[in-house]
Amino acid sequence: MTQVLVTYFSSTGNTKAMAEAVAAGVWSVEGVECVLKTVPQTTNDDWLAADGIIVGSPTYFGQMSSRVKQMFDVTAKIYGQLEGKVGAAFTTSGGAGCGHETTNMSIITAMLVAGMVIQGTTQGPHFGPFAVEAPDEKALRQAREMGVRVATLAQRLAVSHQLSATRNP
Ligand SMILES: Cc1cc2nc3c(=O)[nH]c(=O)nc-3n(C[C@H](O)[C@H](O)[C@H](O)COP(=O)(O)O)c2cc1C
Repeated sequence: MTQVLVTYFSSTGNTKAMAEAVAAGVWSVEGVECVLKTVPQTTNDDWLAADGIIVGSPTYFGQMSSRVKQMFDVTAKIYGQLEGKVGAAFTTSGGAGCGHETTNMSIITAMLVAGMVIQGTTQGPHFGPFAVEAPDEKALRQAREMGVRVATLAQRLAVSHQLSATRNP
């Protein structure tokens, strides 16, 4: 079964609410299971087991929180093994236009360095869902939709990886 990891850091609950909506979107895709964890709970084995990884962080100084960056730093031990996995980002910030796009880009940048595949969207925030403080219905809907998009792409890529492994044993 295709697996998508949703991992997030949240101090006051805003990013956690977004993470739960993203996870609901992932679960809604048949044949895909979601693992929802906080960053401190997340291990490199969780990254390796997943076909897609969605990372959520509060916007701290226009970037991902240092707790989230620390998780990426730990994945250096499995560098090269994340190639081809699907990645995506979401965030919550204190204000509109106060760093949510740069925060999502900071997460996506780390994922690209790890060789991951990022799908953009024409339907909503291009760099990933965001909320200003507690997410409203619109932000939660965009978070769920991103979960669906990532789960669908991860499933397609997981099938094609399996096919090419069968053809080139
Ligand atoms: C250290 C720190 C830095 C922050 N930096 C920003 C920032 O650059 N831009 C912004 O809009 N909000 C900033 N905020 C506000 C948080 O991004 C916002 O409250 C967020 O929703 C918190 O998420 P959480 O409830 O998941 O912890 C900052 C908060 C803290 C504690």
